[in-house]
Amino acid sequence: MPESLVTRLIAVGIDIGGSGIKGGAVDLATGQLLGERLRQPTPVPSTPDAVSGVVAELVARIAGPGPVGVTFPGVVRAGVIETAANLDPSWIGVDAATLFGRRLGRPVVVLNDADAAGIAEMSFGAGRDRAGVVMMVTLGTGIGSALFLDGRLVPNTEFGHIIVSGTDGEKLAAASVRTASNLTWDAWSERLNAYLARLESLLSPDLIIIGGGISRDHAEFMPRLRARAELLPAQLFNDAGIVGAALATTVG
Ligand code: BGC
Repeated sequence: MPESLVTRLIAVGIDIGGSGIKGGAVDLATGQLLGERLRQPTPVPSTPDAVSGVVAELVARIAGPGPVGVTFPGVVRAGVIETAANLDPSWIGVDAATLFGRRLGRPVVVLNDADAAGIAEMSFGAGRDRAGVVMMVTLGTGIGSALFLDGRLVPNTEFGHIIVSGTDGEKLAAASVRTASNLTWDAWSERLNAYLARLESLLSPDLIIIGGGISRDHAEFMPRLRARAELLPAQLFNDAGIVGAALATTVG
């Protein structure tokens, strides 16, 4: 059948981060972005009204039909935001699925950003076909985590906030800390090693996938990392959140 006659299953993915909001249309069968990946800075202050306005602008510019998956950098249960470490605290208690649904006039699913990135990596990236205990760690403004047992997600694990040397893990080892504190790759990798050691003292994953925008620079830091688990860089880099958000629209 000619490619033009094949019906593609498409959804839109929006990834809300502490510094940027990104989006694109995703081919659900391949996990590929269709067309342009759009980005706008996260508004300051990042209130529900301001952020949902940017999300609506992005969705209007993305030439993709279908439902919309939206990631949020905090705990999300049944569409309701329960924590917002790196966004405006007025998000806490907001029914984000209803807010975005009203604003977009399309079916919307909202989930934690690291969970979305993990879903994408398990489907199309470093975790594909991997059974056992798999942990995805995303390094960006904060640290996000996604835990999978035999491919099934345990949502909202929040392992970015484990205490490492008396400090909130993400304040020690997030990618943003490397830039803000001007750390060398060596110095930052040592912090990441301390974080991974603490993580492995709580949980013994078979595989840890290191993601977030910084995973593009994996050659700089992966050789410096130590863990009992197998360590792999993410393969979808910064697109994992968008792809996972779109994939999440097909679940339940
Ligand atoms: C939030 C997590 C989020 C992570 C990455 C943390 O501060 O608590 O929910 O996944 O940042 O954005």
